[in-house]
Amino acid sequence: MIKKIIVANWKMNPKTKEGAQVLLEAIKANIKGAKDVEVVICPPAIWLADLKAGGSMKLGAQNCHWEVSGAFTGEISAGMIADAGGEYVILGHSERRQYLGETDEIINLKIKAALKAKLKPILCVGEIAGEEMNVAAERQLISGLAGLSVNQLKEVIITYEPVWAISNAGNRPCLPDEALSAGLFIRKTLTKLYSRFAADKAPVLYGGSVNDQNDLAYIAQSRLDGLLIGGASLEAEEFGRIVKEIEKNENA
Ligand code: 13P
Repeated sequence: MIKKIIVANWKMNPKTKEGAQVLLEAIKANIKGAKDVEVVICPPAIWLADLKAGGSMKLGAQNCHWEVSGAFTGEISAGMIADAGGEYVILGHSERRQYLGETDEIINLKIKAALKAKLKPILCVGEIAGEEMNVAAERQLISGLAGLSVNQLKEVIITYEPVWAISNAGNRPCLPDEALSAGLFIRKTLTKLYSRFAADKAPVLYGGSVNDQNDLAYIAQSRLDGLLIGGASLEAEEFGRIVKEIEKNENA
């Protein structure tokens, strides 16, 4: 069975390094003892080297460049993230697709760069309002994973994030049944691209307005392998309740 993964996407928060350290310590205190789930905290990359994870808590970044180094003003490479203590990197988040013009082709290059630097890419797929889930997810998976071997797929985490359900952009929550269908569709697509065996082994997470009231439904009803959490990951107590609830459910 795949170990459940709970990823905190802090986005461009909090405002200061001290705030980030306080939040990380508060999260640590609130998830104390939880060892049967993998917790990945993705702060703004500028603080990665200052934040100390440990135990079942790991660190990740929210983006990386596809080149190793060079004349790319303002960018950070996957190797630099690894050097600063990051082990994961979120790629293809809808906010970067929407505001920074990231295409599926760019995301594919970034996934390959992340894998070369031994980071685990967390590839986000999902439709915008009005788009068909399967059309968007299939396109994003085919292009995002292009050229990856079955061995490389083992390092990739897929996240279904319907853009219409993200807290600051969304207009309605995603029903657990909708997340279930999306998860099944993602596995069906991975089966076509690789094999049934590889698809079953790939972790598929859910993201979009997850809170301590709906978290378990996306795991138990939607049969997914974890959560990518934005707003609620900035609330240490709520985030802690989510991690503990998922762990309790695993051990039940
Ligand atoms: P919210 O949990 O705030 O809806 O954010 C979801 C998200 O974009 C995580 O990557």
